[in-house]
Amino acid sequence: MRFVILMILTMMASAVTAQQNPQAPPSGNAENGKKIFTAYGCYQCHNYAANGGGAGPRLAPRPIAFPAFTRAIRTPRDEMPPYSLKMVTDQELADIYAYLLTFPAPPAVDSIPALRQ
Ligand code: HEC
Repeated sequence: MRFVILMILTMMASAVTAQQNPQAPPSGNAENGKKIFTAYGCYQCHNYAANGGGAGPRLAPRPIAFPAFTRAIRTPRDEMPPYSLKMVTDQELADIYAYLLTFPAPPAVDSIPALRQ
């Protein structure tokens, strides 16, 4: 009985955490994301460094929030071809997102002496 109560409390606690943090991306595998980014042709428009290219905007560092990221890929607003669930699974999107999170942010502007003068 005590075990059941504990289980229910644990489930309630994790439901609350999930609600408090709806922006949190699902956990993804950055290494697989890197492979997919190349295999699915994302790099063709967004560049290997995901910093934007001739056709697509910069995706990293500091990618947009995961819900907007998913929307941009499933139902692009403009010229990007849509990637349906059949082409890229939700887990693969999470993997790509995890990969984009690995790009280091550039240094703060005021930490660069030449820009402080
Ligand atoms: C044919 C070129 C092309 C390919 C291939 C492509 N994109 Fe895009 N992407 C774009 C363009 C252009 C935009 C700008 C918005 C639009 O056209 O919908 C964009 C926008 C985005 C955005 C939204 C960025 C923002 O700041 O709003 C994300 C995220 C994104 N692409 C991810 C991807 C991923 C991940 C892949 C591979 C699965 C991919 N794209 C493949 C051209 C491309």
